[in-house]
Amino acid sequence: TRIAVVGGGQNCEHEVGLATAESVRRALDWRRYDVVPLTIARDGGWLLDGARTTFAGAMGVVAACDVVFPAVHGPRGEDGTLAAMCELAGVPYVGSGVRAGALAMDKWATKLVAAELGVGVAPGVLVSSPADGVPVDLPAVVKPVAAGSSHGVALVRSQAELGPAIAAALELDGRVLVEELVVGREVDVAVLERADGTRVVAPALEVVVRPGALFDTTAKYDGSADFRIPAAVSDVERKELEAAALAVFDALGCSGVARIDFFVTAHGLVLNEVNTMPGMTEQSQVPKMFAAAGTAYPTLLDELIAGALA
Ligand code: DAL
Ligand code: MG
Repeated sequence: TRIAVVGGGQNCEHEVGLATAESVRRALDWRRYDVVPLTIARDGGWLLDGARTTFAGAMGVVAACDVVFPAVHGPRGEDGTLAAMCELAGVPYVGSGVRAGALAMDKWATKLVAAELGVGVAPGVLVSSPADGVPVDLPAVVKPVAAGSSHGVALVRSQAELGPAIAAALELDGRVLVEELVVGREVDVAVLERADGTRVVAPALEVVVRPGALFDTTAKYDGSADFRIPAAVSDVERKELEAAALAVFDALGCSGVARIDFFVTAHGLVLNEVNTMPGMTEQSQVPKMFAAAGTAYPTLLDELIAGALA
């Protein structure tokens, strides 16, 4: 099987996209796959095996592959654009399609879908200018509608901090969410769609940060956060998490795998966000959750590729 593993990406999660792709390639390389390494550079250019190529050159490579693994996080990758490229090239690909990728990348649209399903969401408003009125209780969290790894996200405790935080988030996206701070434990749920269409939910993972700390961009990658699998939730909470994750996965029309992130609060679940191409290094949350369920990393990748080819 000739598989193009596309990594990197033209956004602030570029490094994470390099890491995911590298890990996926290493796991596939020595097995029955013929791995073609493609990378999207920070400037949007394409590299084949580390050497610059044209977009047309990269498309020729993609079209000659049996399947694509789009290991790119964030806008211009996870948001449906890589799926669209594969659709137009007529090449199967791992993970969600154009619509689910675009919807899930939009944190506002995702909240609307979740709320419609009866899944809890944080009270919040959409703003497009630092001058917009923000009828939200403080402390609040300011975040770009479409970004990842918490880039551009700020915890705001005073009115004075609000404008600058919105301005900073607007640097990454023209639409910004301001939400009331959710006090709860951060619990991630992974849903895998097998090649036969059945869905499996892995044991939930709890992100344990240092006391008083946030699971922000730094904590996501400096190793200071611990993952607890399974999350220490009650049976009732676990069932609610699984049902909500599956409902959101289905309503958005996700395929392959998605990591659906929640807060477990004293007042029930609150959906945080959905990742249709979550971090997929062997040490990332999703592979760790499935490993805890007895599905080793290479097997997880096989499942995803089989799903794409089904
Ligand atoms: N957005 C990062 C890659 C994640 O969700 O894992
Ligand atoms: Mg994300």
